[in-house]
Amino acid sequence: MRIFSGIQPTGQLHIGNYLGATQNWTELQNNHDSFFMIADLHALTALQDPKEFSKTTLSKFIELLSVGLNPEKCAIFVQSHIKEHTELAWIFNTLTPLGELERMTQFKDKSAKNVKNINAGLLTYPVLQAADILLYKTQGVPVGKDQIQHIELARNIAKKFNSMYGKIFPEPEALLVKEGAKIMSLTEPARKMSKSDSPESSIGVFEEAGSIQKKIRSAVTDTGKEIKYDAKKKPGISNLLTIYSLFSDESLAQAEKRFKGKEYSVFKKSLVDLLIKKLAPLRKKKEELDSRELYVKEILHQGEERARSIAKATMEEVREKIGLLRL
Ligand code: TYM
Repeated sequence: MRIFSGIQPTGQLHIGNYLGATQNWTELQNNHDSFFMIADLHALTALQDPKEFSKTTLSKFIELLSVGLNPEKCAIFVQSHIKEHTELAWIFNTLTPLGELERMTQFKDKSAKNVKNINAGLLTYPVLQAADILLYKTQGVPVGKDQIQHIELARNIAKKFNSMYGKIFPEPEALLVKEGAKIMSLTEPARKMSKSDSPESSIGVFEEAGSIQKKIRSAVTDTGKEIKYDAKKKPGISNLLTIYSLFSDESLAQAEKRFKGKEYSVFKKSLVDLLIKKLAPLRKKKEELDSRELYVKEILHQGEERARSIAKATMEEVREKIGLLRL
C-alpha cells in the first residue's frame, strides 16, 4: 500500500503529533511504500519570518529523523521542492465547490484565531493537501483525528476527477491510531494539543526534563481525586492517563489499576519520569543530527528525487486526461 502524510515545519513537534501521527509513520514505513512531506507551503498561510523559515524547515526534517523515520525505508521531502504540488492544486481548485471549503472546521478555527490575516490560502489549504496526497496516488494517509475532514475532501476530489476525466486516482483513506489520535491541551483539555497555542499547553518531543516537569505539574486536572479514565467528566486526567498509557505500553485499565487510590501528584510524578525516560533517546539523536547538516541535506535530496519521479509521472497523466495542449 502506498502511504503518504505530511507535517507543517513550524512550531515544536509535540507529543500530540508524535502519538497521533509520527510514531505510527515509523511503524508503517516498515511494511509500506511510504512518503512523508514537510508542508512548508501550507505554513505560509500564517506569517513566517523569511530569515528563519528555511532553518525551521530543515530542523523539522531532523526532528522526523530523530523520532525514527528511516530514509532507507521511506522518502522524506519538502513540499516546495516538488512543483507539481501547486500545479495539481490549481487544477483541483477548479473541481472543488467553494461551500465545501467554507465548511471546513480548520478554516473556521484558523480564521477565528487570525482575524488580521484571513488569506485565500487558509480557505484553499485543503485543496493543496488533496494535491499532496493524490499526486502520489496514495491509498493510506496516517494522520490524527483533526485531519479526517481534509482526507474526506481528498476522496471527493479524487472521485470527481475520476468521473470527469477518467480514473487515475485511488480514493485515499485516513489511517488513525487506536488511542492518541487526539491528544488534548494540558491547559485546556477540551481543545486539542496544538503547535500554535501557548507553550504551556503542550510538551515538545525534544523538551528538557525541567520544563517537562513544570508543565505536567501545572497541567489542568479535574475535581475529585480518582485517577480514572472518563473523557467527559474528567478530561484533564483522562488525557494524562492516555499519554501515560501510550508511552508505557500499558492499557488504560492497567494504568488506572496502577494508580488506584493514589494522589494526583503521585501520578503526575510517574508521568514526568516516564516522559523524561522515553523522550531522552530522541533528544540525543536530534543533538547528534543537528551537527551533521551535510549528511542531512544529502538524504533530503534522495527523498526529493524519489518523490519527483512519481509526481512528474502523475502530472503527465493529469495533463493528458484534461486535454491541456502538449507539443
Ligand atoms: P500538522 O502539522 O498540524 O500535524 C501533523 C500531524 O500531527 C497530528 N496531530 C495530532 N494528533 C493527535 N493529537 C493532537 N493533538 C495532534 N495535533 C496534530 C495531525 O493530525 C497530523 O497528522 N495539514 C497537515 C499537514 C499536511 C498533510 C498533507 C497531512 C499537509 N499535507 C497531506 C496529510 C496529508 C497539518 O497541518 O498537520
